[in-house]
Amino acid sequence: MTGRILIVDDDENMCGMLHDDLTHRGHHVVFTTDAEEAFEQFMSEPFDVVVTDLRMPGLNGIDFCHRLAENRPDVPVVVITAFGSMDTAVEAIRAGAYDFVTKPIERDMLAIVIDRALKHRSLQEQVRFLREQREQSGDFEEFVGQSRIMERLFDQISRVAEQPVPVLITGESGTGKELIARTLHRHSERRDAAFVPVNCAALPAALLESELFGHRRGAFTDAKTDRRGLFLEADRGTLFLDEIAAMPLELQPKLLRALETGLIRPVGENTEIECDVRVVAATNKEPEAAVEDGEFREDLFYRVNVVRLEAPPLRARGNDILLLAQHFLQEVARRSDKPVKGLSPAAAQKLLSYHWPGNVRELRNAVERAVAMTRFEELAVEDLPPKIREYQSSAADADSQEDLLPLEEVERQYIQRVLDAVGGNKSTAARVLGLGRRTLYRKLERWGL
Ligand SMILES: Nc1ncnc2c1ncn2[C@@H]1O[C@H](COP(=O)(O)OP(=O)(O)OP(=O)(O)O)[C@@H](O)[C@H]1O
Ligand SMILES: [Mg+2]
Repeated sequence: MTGRILIVDDDENMCGMLHDDLTHRGHHVVFTTDAEEAFEQFMSEPFDVVVTDLRMPGLNGIDFCHRLAENRPDVPVVVITAFGSMDTAVEAIRAGAYDFVTKPIERDMLAIVIDRALKHRSLQEQVRFLREQREQSGDFEEFVGQSRIMERLFDQISRVAEQPVPVLITGESGTGKELIARTLHRHSERRDAAFVPVNCAALPAALLESELFGHRRGAFTDAKTDRRGLFLEADRGTLFLDEIAAMPLELQPKLLRALETGLIRPVGENTEIECDVRVVAATNKEPEAAVEDGEFREDLFYRVNVVRLEAPPLRARGNDILLLAQHFLQEVARRSDKPVKGLSPAAAQKLLSYHWPGNVRELRNAVERAVAMTRFEELAVEDLPPKIREYQSSAADADSQEDLLPLEEVERQYIQRVLDAVGGNKSTAARVLGLGRRTLYRKLERWGL
């Protein structure tokens, strides 16, 4: 393991010798013979380890250790002590030093101590990162979000998780609907049984039917054996019916019946089997519109729409965009062992002003790509995909004009912005705004929107 090392010793020859030796071992080494200067450098540059002599003119080595530890407790300090002054070494460690080596310095010994200090530091950093993540996400493990709209969603999730009622999750593609479904399952009494996802739009009706309900051997040509089906796989657990509004129309009555009776009938079987599943469904098409278009049976819609959760589009989540970007960045950096730590301010600005049609999934892909591309420790604008880099938001210019407006005008403009952000859906907009639907309609009518 290599790192950035600061060496402090009043003996210039010693500094030179340590510098050459450690540089040769792959470290980046800076040295100084003056303790005050050392402290200044220590505070202005990121170092991974400090190696310091304890006895220098004009310096109390113990105070120096205290000062380093107080300001940057995460950077381990290795002290050099004269042979036979164990008491000072112990004192230094009490003052926050990580370890010591005695003079005359054995270079291999020093290298080993430094290596251990570096490992210690990197482990500490990992632990801190994990802890911060924990604290930040509260109960919801890998669910990132601190915006009002997400706080409200977390609140709803924790309230309905324990109830056995069906839940319908709506939201654009990539907004985290499946993550919500999994979270509901994990926070329910059913957490020890299976969570079984099934994409209702991916298969033709006949195949999906035997996928869901199973079949008897010989029920059709390819049915060589009995098959249990996903309903039974999810017995006592949660069945996640993804893209439910796009399920083949002819299968919808059979699903409805299963949900109503709690009984399923495998294909080719005469008797029905009892099955206890909690149903969570999702759709990225407005279900009301799908009903109107005749693609989604109204009775099935009512059946699964007992509780409705809405995954808000990413562009309506404000600074969550940056929290998520940082979350994915750290995850990818760790996985790919790249020393990427954050976003440049300009890149952050780009992410904030983009409109994210692909939502969280698009953000995740953009960050993954950027981490793979970058040569820096901070992702730069040039690391971002061209679509995001070159995006011009219509609101970008608005910030620069400081027009002072009447409150009602600000309200009108803001409501318009929210409406745009949620794709014109008034019920969602009302929820985002914290207004009753009626109130919102009244305002829109007044403004002729
Ligand atoms: N709030 C969040 N915090 C962390 N990761 C998230 C969050 N929301 C979504 N993700 C991640 O974004 C990706 C997309 O989420 P998910 O698959 O749940 O979206 P979806 O709404 O089901 O999309 P689609 O409609 O395309 O099926 C996943 O990798 C998911 O883990
Ligand atoms: Mg999904």
